[in-house]
Amino acid sequence: MSDFTSNFWSIFVSSISIFGIVYCAFLLWFSAKVKVSAHEEDGTTGHVWDEDLREMNNPLPRWWLWLFIITMVFAVVYFIAYPGLGGYAGKLAWTSQGQYEAEVAKANQELEPLYAAFNAQTPEQLSQDPKAMAVGERLFMNNCAQCHGSDARGSKGFPNLTDSDWLHGGTTDKIKETLTKGRIGQMPPMAAAVGTPDDIRNVSHYVLSLSGSPHDSVRAALGKSKFGACAACHGPDGKGMQAMGSANLTDKIWLHGWGEEAITAMINNGKVNQMPAQEGRLTESQIHVLTAYVWGFSNKPAVAK
Ligand code: HEC
Ligand code: HEC
Repeated sequence: MSDFTSNFWSIFVSSISIFGIVYCAFLLWFSAKVKVSAHEEDGTTGHVWDEDLREMNNPLPRWWLWLFIITMVFAVVYFIAYPGLGGYAGKLAWTSQGQYEAEVAKANQELEPLYAAFNAQTPEQLSQDPKAMAVGERLFMNNCAQCHGSDARGSKGFPNLTDSDWLHGGTTDKIKETLTKGRIGQMPPMAAAVGTPDDIRNVSHYVLSLSGSPHDSVRAALGKSKFGACAACHGPDGKGMQAMGSANLTDKIWLHGWGEEAITAMINNGKVNQMPAQEGRLTESQIHVLTAYVWGFSNKPAVAK
């Protein structure tokens, strides 16, 4: 009930709940008190409908009455134990969030022996272990596939994890660092540093030439001198620097699309691309298994699915 700014609804809900129970109790007491005197010898009330339909005056069955009382007692006990009365938290202090957290903690504890065995191995060894990879696959489907795709091949803006092209490094240590801390790939808008729109087009063609992609060679030659503005991050040869997550521009792998238009857009607008940190969401052991799973994509071609 903490979602409400005033305690009006808390009082409203509590009043209705309590009134309901009190009203039921009253009804029971009242109907037991009122005696309908049987007028007739056969024990009927004397009311006759539809010519011969007469009303008996039998007391309520005991078991039914008791059920009624038990439900009322149950309701009272329930309201004392659980948070049913508006803002009142209940004696058991139960919350759905608390229950969820307890279940997660219990599941993690049950899985601990399994993960302890995984933790004793290096990611390289784990990537050969079918049991660990089955766990890795499930973790990947639940936590990573929505961005990187269920085949881990990524899509525009989301890197393909199955090739050997790494923005931030493909060693098991680097992958683990990526998963644990997350990554931000940030390229500032570079238009001002490059010059006129024409200069920008020229640099774009130079970038395309680096990977042997279709380009205008005259423009590429003109753009070469302007690439100095990019070299600080992408390296003088355009191969990128993993320490800053800058992309390799000499392969034909494009995270944000290729062609003059896509590259001029990169230069003009820059890009902030984020891989969310997994620590806090996943346990260290889970990240360990995922590291092996991801590393295995590009280092186990014979066995990889
Ligand atoms: C919300 C989307 C999202 C989710 C969820 C996500 N990622 Fe990422 N991931 C990204 C983005 C975007 C990048 C690229 C960051 C950049 O451009 O520097 C990335 C980068 C990476 C990289 C670095 C690739 C490289 O070339 O260096 C790895 C490894 C990775 N993700 C693995 C995972 C794993 C494993 C999971 C599941 C635990 C996961 N990601 C979940 C969006 C996501
Ligand atoms: C401050 C560092 C920095 C500078 C300067 C910089 N870049 Fe980048 N660039 C990056 C980073 C980091 C990425 C990767 C973005 C990501 O992770 O999504 C990137 C990505 C790109 C991409 C996308 C590659 C792909 O695979 O889709 C292109 C194209 C590009 N840069 C071109 C340039 C050009 C041309 C210049 C010079 C005008 C330049 N960059 C200057 C940091 C830089």
